Amino acid sequence: MEIISNPTQVEIKKAAKALKDGHLVAFPTETVYGLGADATNEKAVSRVYSVKGRPTDHPLIVHISSINQLDKWAVDIPEYAIKLAEEFWPGPMTLILKRSELAKNFITGGQENVGVRVPSHPIALALLSEFEKLGGAGIAAPSANRFGAVSTTTAEDVNEELGSFLNLNDSILDGGSSLIGVESTIIDCRKTSPSILRPGAISITMIEDVTSYIVPKNFATKNIRVSGLLQNHYSPKAEVVINSTPQSGDGFIALDDVPTPTGVIRLASPVNLEEFAHLLYSALRAGDRLKITRVVVIQPDGEDLAHAIRDRLVRASSC
Ligand code: TXA
Ligand code: MG
Repeated sequence: MEIISNPTQVEIKKAAKALKDGHLVAFPTETVYGLGADATNEKAVSRVYSVKGRPTDHPLIVHISSINQLDKWAVDIPEYAIKLAEEFWPGPMTLILKRSELAKNFITGGQENVGVRVPSHPIALALLSEFEKLGGAGIAAPSANRFGAVSTTTAEDVNEELGSFLNLNDSILDGGSSLIGVESTIIDCRKTSPSILRPGAISITMIEDVTSYIVPKNFATKNIRVSGLLQNHYSPKAEVVINSTPQSGDGFIALDDVPTPTGVIRLASPVNLEEFAHLLYSALRAGDRLKITRVVVIQPDGEDLAHAIRDRLVRASSC
């Protein structure tokens, strides 16, 4: 397995070819790193599941280079979903739509719907367009972490997490640290109006403004499988405790204006919500590297991105 730093166009082309040949390529997106495979190649996709240690009934998001590719993967697309795609793609948003013939059970976990996203990271976009030039239809990519663990936001973290499970012909494209730091907003577009399955940087307000629909504020869902909705997902090795007083030896993550008590190991001091999301997963990983067994996080207040951060923290802290 090769790690390619700041890949050139030629190296991206090579990675696209490797994907087309059935190998795996981990790549940066603006949310988190993804572990990519040709979304039409059952064998390659099955390796994604085994490298992640993920149960096969948990569907994968198909990444495409632009809205123009959407019809390949989805049918009966509602008007409001088109509006969302036109407004927020490329960007941190996944749409769940009725699947086309191309979206097989090995991508959708046997469900009749498919998740699709156009990421905005330039390396992801370049990889997708090179892949499509070779006749590829889309890249299936879950977050590049072991099942249940914290997502990765740097190539080093991908390597630490998955390197030992990857083969000689697989590769990791290093495009720096993911700007947003939490996974895309997942929007269920199977009904007459949109609802959120996983909060992210595209907020309720943004969705309401574009679609003119009211978006429900409870994200729980019964008849659709989102593995991120499992308890104890997005978990580091350390126990995560929310809004408590840290004790000596504990790790601590809070906004910059919250002081660090004596003997407590400060893992991150973000100055705003954007930085909080950007630093959260790498701070939790840093805590694990330091063998800290308990991390206290003071949750940020507010809507929008704060919502997404609290969602991940609640999952990281439940067991
Ligand atoms: O930001 C992101 O979305 C990142 C980057 C790499 O694009 N990807 C990501 O993938 O977070 P993953 O597989 O770790 O999380 C995607 C979530 C999973 O919980 C999966 O169950 C859900 O999306 N999902 C995917 N396809 C779905 C579908 N057809 N129906 C319902 N849920 C779906
Ligand atoms: Mg994931």
